[in-house]
Amino acid sequence: MASPIISPSLLAADFGNLQRDCQMVNKSEADWFHIDVMDGVFVPNISYGMPIVKTMADNCDKVMDVHLMIVQPERYIQAFKDCGADILTVHYEACTHLHRTIQEIHNAGMKAGVALNPHTPVHVLQDIIQDVDLVLLMSVNPGFGGQTFIENTINKTAQARTLIDQSGSNAIIEIDGGVNLETGSMLIAAGADALVAGSFVFKSDDPEATISALKAL
Ligand code: DX5
Ligand code: ZN
Repeated sequence: MASPIISPSLLAADFGNLQRDCQMVNKSEADWFHIDVMDGVFVPNISYGMPIVKTMADNCDKVMDVHLMIVQPERYIQAFKDCGADILTVHYEACTHLHRTIQEIHNAGMKAGVALNPHTPVHVLQDIIQDVDLVLLMSVNPGFGGQTFIENTINKTAQARTLIDQSGSNAIIEIDGGVNLETGSMLIAAGADALVAGSFVFKSDDPEATISALKAL
């Protein structure tokens, strides 16, 4: 089995030493950088906006995996492209015209992802799965790092795997929230392709070694 894609979440980085933390990820076995954008409306927290995302992109030499936890994400597609996003993920719950938004992300030259909150069933993706490059399953309620993993995500991962395999879609399954070696190995067994990890990486004694341990799952 191929090793998982590892996407460390910079939400847990030390913002006073952002360049140092970006360089650590550059040097590590991580595949992507996970960038969490929160607006204080879709989620009860505000993280960072375009100038910081651009600074991260300028200092990061891997794929920029941008997760928008904002309302009306269609308003900012080109802005995030201009900041350096490679993958742009929007929330199903935030998009009235999801198909159009996915098209616009593609037209802007990025891969398109759709995120589902813990309460949103996988089957809502049935008629869009062929059009997306990535399905992001939230394994915590979005808004904060360091929360406890919601076990039902294992079932949802298996359901997403079945949906993707049966539809012939090439979408990647990414899981976000409460990922560590234990939850990560269960998720991979259930069919996950990519793991986001914030606190588990950045709060560990040796973040680079922690990334290697996740990569070896
Ligand atoms: C939560 C964010 C996550 C967060 C994960 O809303 O989408 O990416 O940074 O943090 P951990 O890995 O600490 O649960
Ligand atoms: Zn995220």
